[in-house]
Amino acid sequence: MKVDPQQLIDNGYIVLREVVPANQLEALRANFETLVEKQKVIWARERKPDEKPGGVWTTSAQPRVFFDEVVDAATANTVEFCLHANTLGVSQQLMRAPDAAITLMALMCNPVRDHGPASWHRDIDPTGQAPLKGMQMDYVKNGPGYVQWNIPLYDDSVFWLVPRSYCRPNTPEEYQHLLSRPQEPMPGGIPIELSAGDGVVYSHMGLHWGSNYSTKLRRTVHLGYRAFGGDSYPIVDHFYWNLEFTQHLRAEARAQFEYFFQLQQQQSNVIESTFHAIRNKDADGFRDGVAKLHPGEEERMVTVVFLSKLADKVRKLKDPEIRKLPVEERIGEISAHRLNFHLYEDFADRFSTEDAERIWKRFSTLYEKIEAEIARSVPDRTSRVMRYQLTDMPSNFEMEDFIRSW
Ligand SMILES: [Fe+2]
Repeated sequence: MKVDPQQLIDNGYIVLREVVPANQLEALRANFETLVEKQKVIWARERKPDEKPGGVWTTSAQPRVFFDEVVDAATANTVEFCLHANTLGVSQQLMRAPDAAITLMALMCNPVRDHGPASWHRDIDPTGQAPLKGMQMDYVKNGPGYVQWNIPLYDDSVFWLVPRSYCRPNTPEEYQHLLSRPQEPMPGGIPIELSAGDGVVYSHMGLHWGSNYSTKLRRTVHLGYRAFGGDSYPIVDHFYWNLEFTQHLRAEARAQFEYFFQLQQQQSNVIESTFHAIRNKDADGFRDGVAKLHPGEEERMVTVVFLSKLADKVRKLKDPEIRKLPVEERIGEISAHRLNFHLYEDFADRFSTEDAERIWKRFSTLYEKIEAEIARSVPDRTSRVMRYQLTDMPSNFEMEDFIRSW
């Protein structure tokens, strides 16, 4: 399958027909159903005392199976599909990168009762990642470092998006729409009509919508892929999986996941040495490290902002008070997910508490500039919609200014 990376940059999405090879569709439907049934048993067991029988399956508007957690040898074709030329291969073409790896394997299901429309949103948080226009300009100039997919196993037009909204902030009208009637169709929004086996690959920064979480059978594979070695540093740089499930895979697929993990470890090595360069006020070491993480020369400061957020997470994870907390609370302290937290904790283990604090201090001027911009542009930080209003990167603060701020 051949795709044009420029089409994704121009429109923010591409619809592809027959991503699932027709002769695989029935077998995938059957095995995904087996995994849904396995997950339902787990959800029923894990339900909280105040939840209805069935737990997540009966309460969620969009039950989501992280299918690598329930896969076994008999259902391994589900995970192997994520390594196919039409998924991993196409993602790599779109990201124009020497390597690509899967970040997320999920299956979106219909709820058991009608939940109606969800709310329009972007899958990003500029206050926890980087100012919106910075991430958008990085994408436009250097191409995506991360792509996201929906691939329905049954015909599906639940997903809508606003074409080209990924590369600009909200208009004043869109902002008002998101605040006052987020569950209504958005001007400019279009449904993405997919037949069983088709796929849409899109920028998760764009405005999109689950238009109707009805009881109509929905089994839609939801995937994320990140680049290694492409021009930009990916917005999603972590995996929502660990290697444990790969014991169920055939040797070839297992080796691919082990390779992905190796790429991730190598990247952590680069970040670790970049952090040490920062601690040591080694400007050349810092410039080299950032150039490895983000080879594209423009918009490198976006990567430095991402690094500042990571330094903040490391500092928190090293804090003796936070270390005493139960794992659910530690996850909350750094706004991680139960499925990627292990990567942050492993990374933090590379630093002493003192070093983590010193590294963090070097980022403090940059961090404060962004905090000041948040205070100016985001009326209420607890509002997801208002956080999209953090659009501007710190002005007149480039790589060399950052170095001088140490
Ligand atoms: Fe979303």
